[in-house]
Amino acid sequence: MKKIAYLRILGFLILALILIELTVETESGWAIEQYPVIWWILAVVLVIAVAIEVSLAALESMVFKSLKPDAQQHYTKLKIENSDKQFVGLKKFYKKMLNQQPVEKEEEILLDHNYDGIKELDNDLPAWWLYGFYISIVFAFVYMAYYHIFDGETQREEYLAEVAKAEKDVEAYKAENPDLIDASSVELLTEASDLEAGEQIFMTSCMACHKADGGGSIGPNLTDEHWILGGGISNVFQTVSEGGRDGKGMVAWKSELNAQEIAQVSSYVLSLQGTNPPDAKAPEGDIWVADSE
Ligand code: HEC
Repeated sequence: MKKIAYLRILGFLILALILIELTVETESGWAIEQYPVIWWILAVVLVIAVAIEVSLAALESMVFKSLKPDAQQHYTKLKIENSDKQFVGLKKFYKKMLNQQPVEKEEEILLDHNYDGIKELDNDLPAWWLYGFYISIVFAFVYMAYYHIFDGETQREEYLAEVAKAEKDVEAYKAENPDLIDASSVELLTEASDLEAGEQIFMTSCMACHKADGGGSIGPNLTDEHWILGGGISNVFQTVSEGGRDGKGMVAWKSELNAQEIAQVSSYVLSLQGTNPPDAKAPEGDIWVADSE
């Protein structure tokens, strides 16, 4: 009987814990999405268990009501005796933790002062409080040793590490999804590898109209500071991606090149600024001032 009572409580606790555990979010999504079957089975088990407990209680009270008064008394007595035998260990532990003087013995610890009828008991500290205090002392030493002697990772360092990791993740995500870049978010690329890739694209797709050195033939000179459609990485990206004015011959390249490639070739074009190639086309458009962007 005694063991069954403990087992029942333990069973409910474990079930509830597993159910809660299954509803939390993990690194790879919601746990419940990964084990939906287990979750449902456990939920059904829990509901059945609760139903059994409730029906047992109802049955008990029905039987109790049908008993004769003396049988009822006997039953109640048995029940009280039985409940006294249950959780004896727990009850002892609870009493010990509270460490209270029973009311009958309060006289022994009554202090001898009396303020207008208000008296004071000289109770011992409750054990739960005392142990908590001891644990906090131990904790303080561990804490001090960890952070101040062995140079443990502080919250600030943890935070910075997390941010650095997140930034890396963002970079990796961007690299995997080149089409995320658009004219408003694009940044001038300066890495040699990006500029080389840009040059490659330029020699394949753009040179026919802008000349290998960017000096311009059908298309305008890309090496001077004059721009018809606006200079700066954002405008150049926009022009290459969406094309020039209708009928001028500069098509939209977004169907041929992905956003990353457009950013690379645009950055390459801008790296030609001020190279003054021979036989370059006369400047067209206005001088581009970055601030006016
Ligand atoms: C078929 C010829 C042709 C090709 C190929 C071509 N362009 Fe153009 N490009 C033009 C013309 C023409 C203009 C002028 C458009 C206008 O006036 O609206 C122009 C304009 C531009 C401009 C804007 C210049 C300014 O002054 O604002 C940029 C930047 C540019 N092209 C880059 C490129 C890049 C990069 C490529 C290769 C991916 C390329 N173009 C391929 C013909 C071409």
